Amino acid sequence: MLDTLRCRYPAVLALLAQLLALAALAVAVLAAARLGEWRPSLWQAALGQGGLAAALGHWLGLRRWWLPLNLAFVPGLLALQSREWPAWWFLAAFLLLLLLNWNSFRERVPLYLSGARTRQRLSERLVGLPADFRFVDLGCGLGSALVQLARDYPRARLVGVETAPLVFLFAWLRCLPYRNCRVRYRSLWDEPLGGYDVVYCFLSPAPMAELWTKARCEMRPGSLLISNSFEIPDVAPDEVIELTDWRASRLLLWHL
Ligand SMILES: C[S@@+](CC[C@H](N)C(=O)[O-])C[C@H]1O[C@@H](n2cnc3c(N)ncnc32)[C@H](O)[C@@H]1O
Repeated sequence: MLDTLRCRYPAVLALLAQLLALAALAVAVLAAARLGEWRPSLWQAALGQGGLAAALGHWLGLRRWWLPLNLAFVPGLLALQSREWPAWWFLAAFLLLLLLNWNSFRERVPLYLSGARTRQRLSERLVGLPADFRFVDLGCGLGSALVQLARDYPRARLVGVETAPLVFLFAWLRCLPYRNCRVRYRSLWDEPLGGYDVVYCFLSPAPMAELWTKARCEMRPGSLLISNSFEIPDVAPDEVIELTDWRASRLLLWHL
């Protein structure tokens, strides 16, 4: 159970750490009030809760980058609240984040974008393919890779699939001016891959093993799977293009 949470739903484990820390802090504050004079200020309590949540999260096996998130969550809420912003701001910010990062929770794939150098090298790598090659970006984000390829290869047929609502809308509008480029509101798991010469993705480590199974079942011999930076467990790429950017990105290519 803990292993499943750790691997598949780390956000639930982080929430558990927050709640346990809150409960432990409440007990400690009540006990201190009964036994003596000391009362923590709101800020002391929030920082104590944050420290406890970070330690608990670490103990429960969350990755190291959860430490600052768990530490700062309740103190951050307190800081925001003390500015007396209207309540609907929080709801609006939450909805905006939700519509942008729709796939973070279930698929564990948030929104971040292929950099300019990556897009350039991707485009260069496709030189030599037939002019009307078919390309799909699985989880196309804001459509940046599609737009670059639509300009560089006007005869290619380019498709993006995306399920984060706001991100989809943006990519769809952005690709409208390009006749060779289309964005669909569709899960990457529902997109048949058999018709494409090139399948591109920039996802996260989480779906790569399952994606490989899908690619092997559906992609045609001679087609190309390209992953920005994320490896397929236990399957060495046939080609690696190092990008030497600040993220140390790499394009990993598998010839099906
Ligand atoms: C890291 S971003 C990459 C965006 C774009 N491909 C790029 O390289 O700039 C991953 C995108 O995949 C989308 N995504 C995640 N799971 C998906 C799914 N099952 N179906 C469609 N899109 C998905 C996310 O919403 C996000 O926009």
